[in-house]
Amino acid sequence: MTYQTLCKQRYLAEGESVPFMLGGREVIVLWPDGGQPRAFEGVCPHEGQSLVNNADFNGRILVCTVHGWVFDGRDGQGLSPAGCRLTEFPLRMAQGLVEIDLDAA
Ligand code: FES
Repeated sequence: MTYQTLCKQRYLAEGESVPFMLGGREVIVLWPDGGQPRAFEGVCPHEGQSLVNNADFNGRILVCTVHGWVFDGRDGQGLSPAGCRLTEFPLRMAQGLVEIDLDAA
């Protein structure tokens, strides 16, 4: 595992999503209401469109605005349609920094 620094922890907030570019890859961090921050590849599994530029998150679900696919913000599971999921990167917090492992996905 090779963790890289994504951002300072204070840039994240519960109920919000934050997009990033890291190592040439799009990353979207979702911090669902009542949950923990999780990092996902910012690419929709439908047709590979950017979720960094085409997504709405309401603290519970993430909607890809290109064609309306819906994902659970807690774990990236597809809700509509089911049977798909966002690619997740391991995320950890250390000394006020958010780190993720791009190699794990
Ligand atoms: S590319 Fe995301 S719903 Fe089609």
